[in-house]
Amino acid sequence: MQSPTLIQTLEALVREACASERNLFGYGIWTHHIVTVVHHGRRLAEHLGADPEIVEIAALLHDYAGIKDPHASKEHHIQGAVEAGDLLRRLGYPEDKILAVANCIMSHRGSVELERTSREAVCLASTDAMAHIEQVPSLLYLTFVRLGMGIDEGTTWVSEKLERSWRKLCPEAKVLMREQYAAARLLLARNATGYEGQNTGLTMALD
Ligand SMILES: [Fe+2]
Ligand SMILES: [Fe+2]
Repeated sequence: MQSPTLIQTLEALVREACASERNLFGYGIWTHHIVTVVHHGRRLAEHLGADPEIVEIAALLHDYAGIKDPHASKEHHIQGAVEAGDLLRRLGYPEDKILAVANCIMSHRGSVELERTSREAVCLASTDAMAHIEQVPSLLYLTFVRLGMGIDEGTTWVSEKLERSWRKLCPEAKVLMREQYAAARLLLARNATGYEGQNTGLTMALD
């Protein structure tokens, strides 16, 4: 039997971590986030002239630290870069490519101001954001089901996450995602106070 490729080995490791009870995000982070980031990574790497192998490995590992350890969530870009380095070194990956992958993971977050110094890093940050914009139901699941937020709090959380994601996109990715972002914004647009207290036909009918 042929031995698994590096990508297959990493896929199996990350998928297993996603299926673990310790993963606070639920298995959907594999099916509706990591897989989507990998998919868009392959596509966008071509557009940007980035190295597709570095982008794919970084896409697989970019949230791995936060998935494995719920306490690492806030620093998962830093811990993730270190752990990806250790893991890839054990698997015999070349040192210069390890640095390129770690650099992508370190700067992938929208909420952390870190300069993206390579095409691959720009590509990963954009594809991470593309996945958020495309997979709004998984963000809603995270806020309402996993984090237990109420309607307004959860809607605000998702809206702000999407705004950060949009800002994180490179110009090429903005062209690809413009319509989907507009649709997501429309879905989440709301009147913060709702219609409570207004003289609507509904309240009158209930009198
Ligand atoms: Fe992340
Ligand atoms: Fe991510």
